[in-house]
Amino acid sequence: GRIRHYRWDVKYEYKSPDCFKKLVITINGRSPGPTIQAEEGDTVVVEVNNSLVTENLAIHWHGIRQIGSPWFDGTEGVTQCPVLPGDTFKYQFVVDQAGTYLYHAHYGMQREAGLYGLIRVSPRQPEPFAYDYDRSIILDDWFHKSTYEQAAGLSSIPFQWVGEPQSLLINGKGRFNCSLSSPVTGICNATNPECAPYSQTVVPGKTYRLRIGSLTTLSALSFQIQGHKMRVVEADGHYVEPFEVENLFIYSGETYSVLVKADQDPKRNYWITSNVVSRNRTTPPGLAIFNYYPNHPMRSPPTPPPTPPAWDDVKPRLAQSLAIKARQGFIQKPPTTSDRVIVLLNTQNTINGYRKWSVNNVSFSLPQTPYLVALKDNLKDAFDQTPPPEGYDSVNYDIFSVQNNTNATSSNGIYRLEFNSTVDVILQNANTMNKNNSETHPWHLHGHDFWVLGYGNGKFDKDKDPKKYNLENPILKNTVPVHPYGWTALRFKANNPGVWLFHCHIDSHFYMGMGVVFEEGIHRLAEKLPSSIMGCGETKTFRP
Ligand code: C2O
Ligand code: CU
Repeated sequence: GRIRHYRWDVKYEYKSPDCFKKLVITINGRSPGPTIQAEEGDTVVVEVNNSLVTENLAIHWHGIRQIGSPWFDGTEGVTQCPVLPGDTFKYQFVVDQAGTYLYHAHYGMQREAGLYGLIRVSPRQPEPFAYDYDRSIILDDWFHKSTYEQAAGLSSIPFQWVGEPQSLLINGKGRFNCSLSSPVTGICNATNPECAPYSQTVVPGKTYRLRIGSLTTLSALSFQIQGHKMRVVEADGHYVEPFEVENLFIYSGETYSVLVKADQDPKRNYWITSNVVSRNRTTPPGLAIFNYYPNHPMRSPPTPPPTPPAWDDVKPRLAQSLAIKARQGFIQKPPTTSDRVIVLLNTQNTINGYRKWSVNNVSFSLPQTPYLVALKDNLKDAFDQTPPPEGYDSVNYDIFSVQNNTNATSSNGIYRLEFNSTVDVILQNANTMNKNNSETHPWHLHGHDFWVLGYGNGKFDKDKDPKKYNLENPILKNTVPVHPYGWTALRFKANNPGVWLFHCHIDSHFYMGMGVVFEEGIHRLAEKLPSSIMGCGETKTFRP
């Protein structure tokens, strides 16, 4: 493979992505950052200069498995110390698998300040579907409060929730209603060209591959192109047995490729929209323009944007999850049995007066010393050596009502997996601390793809449900939703030496403890870890 070399300067700049002016983290002056383009087998080198002045930094390559380079996963507290202001950090990894991936900040809640982008890896073999043009669309939700205000609110007594986003961005552009802002809250200028909608020009009759990625902080989205059907062909870097949708439901951390044919009346433009689902939406739709050449790219479509699906209708979302199967001819079969089953109950609770999210009653906290170094160098006091529980009291726990979860604790203990073993993870959803409420959580696994064996409503039944697993053509993914009051079953091979985070991709949920860590094969790693990942916690003296 070739070497793809990037030099990034990361800093804060005033920008108005939705017409409201605020500090945004940019890469080389842009947010979303530049798209990384490579071919399967290439080596990507990104030299990141932290020009944030007063803030640490780490960048994660979401969906890249980092085989042989677990120290460059970019997860602060897990695989590296943060990059200090003024420092340059060199990430180097092989993109071994074609497909659409993401990158984003992985330090505190920094991602939501705008540090995110797309990675496109083209295959060496031709794709199993045809299209004329290849385009990218990255979706986000946008908050006007700084990450600090949000984080401080989440870790306060009384708890202050971040609320719903002020706008939805499509390729970094959105529209906030400036009449809602005051000179006190900030500067908003509806005619600022920075917030002109994104316009995707299409030539009538041509077929477009749209690579759609979501890096929302909070929201699950429904994505639509007015009057056009979308054919889903790729999910998280794997070919999907094609199916058609009118709305594409997409969760934070997921990517899809869809094929769209520009086969409608060419005398007009159409709306591209994103809408919040799964939370009672107060945020206006994200709007972009599907522009039929040669109409003016900024001409508003003559009809209003399509109505989004009801925010609280879980059925069509579960149906789409179930429809995603591996494409015939590209099926990688999972092992038929597993060596270990870990059930992860997702709950909200209060610990010492603080509102938290927990997994099996343990709210995850990051250690000072990155696990990778602590494990490799056997620093036993760097984190809690007691492993978290393998499950919960599934007989007596009522997932449908508010529970006290009084014995919830905070811990940075981890799951240690036997190298090369097959692990099943059952994500079990439950009621939150509000009556009749259960949320959607997109769970993302670092360092692996997993097979999605099944989804279900209610409580997972360990005797009956595994019999219904799809072992024939399950899709491989790196991010998967667990639907309200439902469960999701995954299987993966613990065959990538390193330490890997598995967490809810909603920024505030992970910040509040919704995650776990897996270790496997740590002793198979090379004698010396790169010193560039050290310098914090107990590794302070390790760095020359
Ligand atoms: Cu895209 Cu740990 O996240
Ligand atoms: Cu969550």
